[in-house]
Amino acid sequence: MTASQHNDYSDYPATPVKVKTGLANVTLLSRRGRGDTKLEWVAHPRDRYFSDVTGDPIVTDKQTLTIRDNRSGEEYEVEITDGSIRAADLGKIGKSDDDPGLSVYDPGFTNTASTRSAVTYIDGEKGILEYRGYPIEQLAESSTYLEVAYLLIHGELPTKEQHDQWVHEITFHTFVHENLKSQLQGFRYDAHPMGMLLSSVGALSTFYPEANKIKDPQVRHDQIVRMIAKMPTLGAWAFRHAQGKPYVYPDNDLSYTENFLSMLFRMSEPKYDPDPRLAKALEVLFILHADHEQNASTNAVRSVGSSQVDPYSAVTAGIAALYGPLHGGANEAVLKMLKRIKTKDNVPAFIEGVKNGEERLMGFGHRVYKNYDPRATIIKKACDDVFEVTGVNPLLEVAQELEKIALEDEYFVKRKLYPNVDFYSGLIYEALQFPPEMFTVLFAIPRTSGWLAQWLELVDDPEQKIARPKQIYTGARQLDFVPSSERWK
Ligand SMILES: CC(C)(COP(=O)(O)OP(=O)(O)OC[C@H]1O[C@@H](n2cnc3c(N)ncnc32)[C@H](O)[C@@H]1OP(=O)(O)O)[C@@H](O)C(=O)NCCC(=O)NCCS
Repeated sequence: MTASQHNDYSDYPATPVKVKTGLANVTLLSRRGRGDTKLEWVAHPRDRYFSDVTGDPIVTDKQTLTIRDNRSGEEYEVEITDGSIRAADLGKIGKSDDDPGLSVYDPGFTNTASTRSAVTYIDGEKGILEYRGYPIEQLAESSTYLEVAYLLIHGELPTKEQHDQWVHEITFHTFVHENLKSQLQGFRYDAHPMGMLLSSVGALSTFYPEANKIKDPQVRHDQIVRMIAKMPTLGAWAFRHAQGKPYVYPDNDLSYTENFLSMLFRMSEPKYDPDPRLAKALEVLFILHADHEQNASTNAVRSVGSSQVDPYSAVTAGIAALYGPLHGGANEAVLKMLKRIKTKDNVPAFIEGVKNGEERLMGFGHRVYKNYDPRATIIKKACDDVFEVTGVNPLLEVAQELEKIALEDEYFVKRKLYPNVDFYSGLIYEALQFPPEMFTVLFAIPRTSGWLAQWLELVDDPEQKIARPKQIYTGARQLDFVPSSERWK
């Protein structure tokens, strides 16, 4: 049936009908209801489904969105794929010689998907985190950081041969060029280790100029191995630098995290003997921090990488983004907060301050997780292992009391505020004698595998283009320039 054939609506069926029309602004009368209900409907030269009773559109299984531009009365139908529409389709709306078409204004990309990705899955409502489909809990329990790094980079778990080869390659690329050591030594005694890390990773690109051949799989592989291998060396040397201690060269007999502990803490002993419980705890922390889909630093890596620059430069951008207090710095803030609260007895008064808006409970709440951050549960367990070696951090009691009260309090329950990854990690890092400035370095080292997995995905994705957002220009136009000789008279 087509709408144009309907002069008499009395035979209009009670069930939803399909109306085909090329007319605009067709007026339809429903057969039923209280009297004749007049339904205004803007027709579109396409099949339409609607209820003859209410006039409401009938839900169909069509994966499209119909948008009516009230400025022109025009309707547009755009495809919905995986719960999203293409911003480029919106660009067709209102497009003319004088109008570039509709765009989306989304500062901070709070509701914009920039990529299709198969690396990391997060369900914030349910508190789920998976790398390549594997739950974080299982990886933290039974895997190693290097195996997880392989999984992130290659998309699947390694065979025994692949694993052994991968570990061997990474272990034998841990040394850095001596000139890079000189560069690090040139920093001031109080240089922030993140500043040292980001500049030395950027400098690595100058040691491996072939790294800009980003389409060559072997070249890509070599840089990925180098970066994952060298990050602990650079991070540990930045730590030693602040202490005025000699840099310790890598010990390739040790595992990834054992070697890191050796480069951090070895003094005069000929061979450092790391406590396996600390090495394991660090392994778990590294696994938890390996990737977290499209966060600020990953977005920085992808954005800079989209210019087809070498991966060292792209990862340097990620380190710079992580440096910021809104990203990598929260665990340091948790530690400061716990020190300020000092004892368990002061917790209720602090919580009252939070509820009155005078304080913020650092380490609680998350943009994505509206449930217990799955990483927080695992870190809480790792605390026990570390404190078994280092002795219990007295601030743990304060943290546990805060968590207990907050989880029962209506203010936090209503707002779905739960502990996040940073709530307990600072306590562990402090127990391991890291100064707060090192906390973000401890985040950057394992995140390198995630950044590189995302970078690889980007360079292989035929849909990706150089990242170039639009702007809504709000400044002046077409002013007449007056030379300084006249302006300054
Ligand atoms: C992570 C964070 C920035 C997420 O922010 P967000 O998604 O923008 O959430 P909002 O700031 O909109 O918060 C929603 C509500 O919860 C409150 N809230 C959020 N986090 C809170 C916290 N840590 N302490 C107290 N109240 C908090 C907000 O005040 C707001 O309350 P309102 O609705 O009465 O105004 C925020 O929870 C936070 O600042 N947490 C502490 C810092 C931290 O641990 N960061 C590490 C993240 S891994």
